[in-house]
Amino acid sequence: MSEAAPGVVVRALTPQDVPALVRMEDALFGAGAWSARTLEEELVGPGRWYVGAQDAAAGTLVGYAGLWFDGFDAQVMTIGTDTAHQGRGIGRLLLSALLDRARTLGAGVVLLEVRVDNDPALRLYESAGFVRFGLRRGYYQPENADAWTMRLDLRGDEGEAR
Ligand SMILES: CC(C)(COP(=O)(O)OP(=O)(O)OC[C@H]1O[C@@H](n2cnc3c(N)ncnc32)[C@H](O)[C@@H]1OP(=O)(O)O)[C@@H](O)C(=O)NCCC(=O)NCCS
Repeated sequence: MSEAAPGVVVRALTPQDVPALVRMEDALFGAGAWSARTLEEELVGPGRWYVGAQDAAAGTLVGYAGLWFDGFDAQVMTIGTDTAHQGRGIGRLLLSALLDRARTLGAGVVLLEVRVDNDPALRLYESAGFVRFGLRRGYYQPENADAWTMRLDLRGDEGEAR
């Protein structure tokens, strides 16, 4: 049980979670939502690590997040909190699980993209130490929305130079 999000536990995701993930994806990402097939492939993809946030009392998934590690750096693939459960610390809990995993794997940096108008996610990432370093025009389709690229240097955690 987490102090940051009381009553919520982080656990590994399995293919049985895909229907619940599809429901959250559709609600959170609309036209840009991943399909059931993409989610199934992501859960077992090379270098992928996906976790869910589960409401311990109800036993239901209330959030999810995924990381890709390529042997050098890590990429936040997605993070989402069910709309009814946002603002309870679940996004922060999930992000911190991904960052712990990236450190355990020895990743040098963690990268991500975020829509330029996604204030909740931008604030979450910036409060975790991510900094903006580039702009990808039209990154999100079909909305044709721009993305900030962000990075968190984990080597800086230990004061090491690259
Ligand atoms: C981004 C998201 C995952 C945050 O999840 P959450 O569980 O609501 O986040 P938390 O309650 O853990 O809040 C963590 C921090 O995020 C920021 N944040 C969350 N909601 C916010 C809001 N509505 N406005 C501004 N900042 C917000 C704050 O910095 C907050 O820290 P604080 O509470 O100390 O101020 C959630 O809004 C979401 O699922 N959005 C839709 C999907 C999405 O855009 N994912 C990111 C793709 S890049």
